[in-house]
Amino acid sequence: MKYYIGIDLGTSSVKVLMLESGGKVIGSVTKEYHLYFPQDGWSEQNPEDWYNQTVAALTELLDGKDCDKVASISFSGQMHGLVTLDDNNEVIRPAILWNDSRSQQETDMLNKDKDFLLDSTGNIAFAGFTLPKLLWLKKHEPENYAKIKKVLLPKDYLSYRLTGNFCTDVSDASGTLYFDVENRCWSKPILEKFNIDENWLPRVLESDECAGNLKSELAKSLGLADVKVIIGAGDNAAAAIGTGTVKDGDCNISLGTSGTVFTVSDEFRLDRESAIHSFCSAGRNYHQMACMLSAATCCNWWVEKILSDDYSSVESQKEKLGENKVFFLPYLMGERSPLNDSEIRGMFYGLSLATEKDEMSLAVLEGVAFALRQNIEIIRNMGIDITSSSICGGGTKNKLWLKIIANVLGIELNIPQSGEGASLGAAILAAKGEMTSEAYAELEKNIYRIKEKIAPENELVEKYDTRYNTWKKLYPALKNIQS
Ligand code: XUL
Repeated sequence: MKYYIGIDLGTSSVKVLMLESGGKVIGSVTKEYHLYFPQDGWSEQNPEDWYNQTVAALTELLDGKDCDKVASISFSGQMHGLVTLDDNNEVIRPAILWNDSRSQQETDMLNKDKDFLLDSTGNIAFAGFTLPKLLWLKKHEPENYAKIKKVLLPKDYLSYRLTGNFCTDVSDASGTLYFDVENRCWSKPILEKFNIDENWLPRVLESDECAGNLKSELAKSLGLADVKVIIGAGDNAAAAIGTGTVKDGDCNISLGTSGTVFTVSDEFRLDRESAIHSFCSAGRNYHQMACMLSAATCCNWWVEKILSDDYSSVESQKEKLGENKVFFLPYLMGERSPLNDSEIRGMFYGLSLATEKDEMSLAVLEGVAFALRQNIEIIRNMGIDITSSSICGGGTKNKLWLKIIANVLGIELNIPQSGEGASLGAAILAAKGEMTSEAYAELEKNIYRIKEKIAPENELVEKYDTRYNTWKKLYPALKNIQS
């Protein structure tokens, strides 16, 4: 029996999870850290906090465990964040995170030549991505930019602190906009055009490859022996591994702060017209990913901030599904996929004197589901057939929401047994990087079990089809008003 540890470096906390070689999760610990908003639209963190809280979480997780059995560690990381190091490998300034929108001007400038970006990287620019942040730093903090000797992503900084080596993986590198996704290497044309020194960038590995060994002093202080550090993946790619979304055509929906639709494909695919990301996967293939900026956040905003309530009373609407007269657009923080519109904001439509609070609550759940469908339709137009999907994230606790999503999308939803996403995916990558392929095939059999299936119902699918066709017309109308 061996143990494998997954470290999920999230935006509000780090979660460490221990998996045994038979496939059982035997413990997890979460430690929070600060998120700083120094100005409107800015979002920063202190990389030292990531390291300190990871070590604290590992210390607690390992307490009382048979530490000699720990064979390897791997990561899942919040994507896109900019971490810069000087010639002493010290952090130059706080990390600028994925949800920071200060680089909108740089993003607009980059998107003037979308074809160059798409041909060189497979993606267009979003303010969340790393390249616009680096260009912002060059313009606004030239003294910091001049000190740069290394540019890393969040989990890759942690991997450096654990091993002393500079590495990244293909899935996380895909979100930088200086990575050639199709060919799984740094993009020479982008590095040349923006004068980025390739020596600043870490070595690129596949997600199950080894970045090095855990530094001996750290291993000793944690009571560990020889432990391999496997580089791991960006959080959505890791969640896909955690939910068994690994084969061509597999789909996973994540209902977290953000909402993502993630489909795996063996071939590199690109949609030149929309804001769907084409990234490398952690399973040595590719994926298309739509990232909606507000999913479960819409529900929290509505019930906590506006209603000061919870979602229980919306159950009264169960019998009226598909008939709601109220519509909601979930653009509380602007929208990334498929609109790429950071200015747009949310909206309720269809209110009357007869409207009740619970219909508005239902409209919020339905609005997020319609936005998921819009992304799924674009992915379908890329030639990917989606007939079922796994679903993970905090939003899956709301059973009525799951029923709505299954019927709005017209697909079967599979809820994984484990209930874990990214942290489990990281532990599975740790195991994959250390085990023989036979042992890994055995682990896969034990771990990918489905707890519950939610099937769409024909009559409800038809009703939601009609409502979706109305909902779809609202963004173009709203856009007209806002622009
Ligand atoms: C993906 C994205 C987010 C972050 C946050 O493109 O921006 O999902 O990785 O965790």
